[in-house]
Amino acid sequence: MTKQKATNVVWHEHKVSKEDREALLKQKGVIIWTTGLSGSGKSTIANEIAYRLHQMGKLAYVLDGDNIRHGLNKNLGFSPEDRNENIRRISEVAKLFSDSGVIAITAFISPYRKFRNFCRELVEPGHFFEVFCRASLDTCEQRDPKGMYKKAREGIIKDFTGIDAPYEEPDNPEVIVDTDKETVEESVDKVLDVLKKFKIIDA
Ligand code: ADX
Repeated sequence: MTKQKATNVVWHEHKVSKEDREALLKQKGVIIWTTGLSGSGKSTIANEIAYRLHQMGKLAYVLDGDNIRHGLNKNLGFSPEDRNENIRRISEVAKLFSDSGVIAITAFISPYRKFRNFCRELVEPGHFFEVFCRASLDTCEQRDPKGMYKKAREGIIKDFTGIDAPYEEPDNPEVIVDTDKETVEESVDKVLDVLKKFKIIDA
């Protein structure tokens, strides 16, 4: 993927390990990666998962597309290359958060399977949970919370996911939430149940 430019750099092992930090925090540092069309409910679900985990005394942090694009990724647009760089950087950031012992929850369209899998492979097996926020394009377009589908249909916004840019559905996500049929609570319960099953949080 992205080639390393710096050659004279050496990886350092640190004295305090991920396991030490996890023991301190009494939790596992994992990544919960939501994916889906704009308006499919990623941010809502991510925020609600973080809230529920917080109530359980777990330290979680939400990395959200619209917010990250105001700072770290403000120099990126929506071409396939820029979206890939967006997801590459977020994957590395999410990995750092999970390495610190925090439960990182991401909310990015992340339309390309290959780049979601890039993040999956960055962390230990079992430490990446892909949550597919499945809602039909019709539903997302009717919701249109930011008025962007309307603009995309009018040709004012180009390369809009689902309209004139692709979205590749996950092959084998850990969780599928049908946000056009379930309540937010039901969707979040599904995610928490999977975290319990994999012993990330207590049953
Ligand atoms: S991603 O494709 O690179 O993962 P990301 O989640 O960061 O996208 O940003 C998506 C958000 O940017 C959408 O929710 C929407 O508000 C806004 N946006 C602006 N232009 C586009 C576009 N062309 N395609 C998709 N989303 C867009």
